[in-house]
Amino acid sequence: MTDYQSILERTVQHVQPILQHGKVADYIPALAEQQLGQFAIAIQTQTGETYSAGACDAKFTVQSVSKVMTLTLALQRYGDDLWQRVGKEPSGTAFNSLTQLEFENGIPRNPFINAGAIVTCDALYSRLSAPIHTMLESYRLQTGNPKLGVNKVVAQSEYEHRYRNAAMAYLMKSFGNFNNEVEEVLWSYFNFCAIELTVSELAKCFSYLSNGGVCTQSQQQVLPAKQIKQLNSLLFTSGLYDAAGDFGYRVGMPGKSGVSGAIIAVVPGRFTIAVWSPGLDKVGNSVAGIAALEFLAEELGTAIF
Ligand code: DON
Repeated sequence: MTDYQSILERTVQHVQPILQHGKVADYIPALAEQQLGQFAIAIQTQTGETYSAGACDAKFTVQSVSKVMTLTLALQRYGDDLWQRVGKEPSGTAFNSLTQLEFENGIPRNPFINAGAIVTCDALYSRLSAPIHTMLESYRLQTGNPKLGVNKVVAQSEYEHRYRNAAMAYLMKSFGNFNNEVEEVLWSYFNFCAIELTVSELAKCFSYLSNGGVCTQSQQQVLPAKQIKQLNSLLFTSGLYDAAGDFGYRVGMPGKSGVSGAIIAVVPGRFTIAVWSPGLDKVGNSVAGIAALEFLAEELGTAIF
């Protein structure tokens, strides 16, 4: 039997020398206060066991990993109709780029860049009476933590510095690809990004991606197996923005990153991995997080190819 615990502890040792590398995200002032040097990792197996190592009690905001949950809730409600408003192609540009959106008539390339997640939030906003409440309920059910909540300081800080995201939303509105009040949808989007959890909770929450759509914590069928296959394929091609190719090459798993330094990675039929370390590379992905996943893929032989 695989000794996950000792492999995770070896992973913590492996990344020690690079924990001061990279920079914390500073375009959101509340995130700029995070300290370098922190690292945590967890594995949630398909059979429901949780293993973790490093700063397991540290809480961080989910940031762009939330885009996976936003897409999940939207697919539950719209199915394939969602793809009329957002594409499925890698962007090859930064997560907050505006240029491509103008060239492509307000249809974002995919749901994992900011514009794509914001338009997906707009779609959800049309179907939910209390979007933040519904979103939190999903996280609470799937982590088993009924107290899980939003870091209000981070949400407020993001809202106060929303210029670029607001520009994308208004640009989409000018092209007719936005149905609700921009400011209200942005507030939901920032709250989704500012949901706060631990690394084990993050792994549990996204366990449905490696388990044919069934969350190993709640036992709920979150999405049908066919949509999980599609979602994982999109994560592989677009989950790490303009670094998706490099991540695919080094790690060989579908993944999604966030500017808090969180990353999830999926080995279908085996487990979901969550990792967190706030030092980011130039594209906004966790330096130690990617190195840890690369090490794990090697140790466990888990690259999907
Ligand atoms: O909207 C933003 O810019 C952030 N709340 C999320 C961006 C993010 O996490 C990109 N990931 N690498």
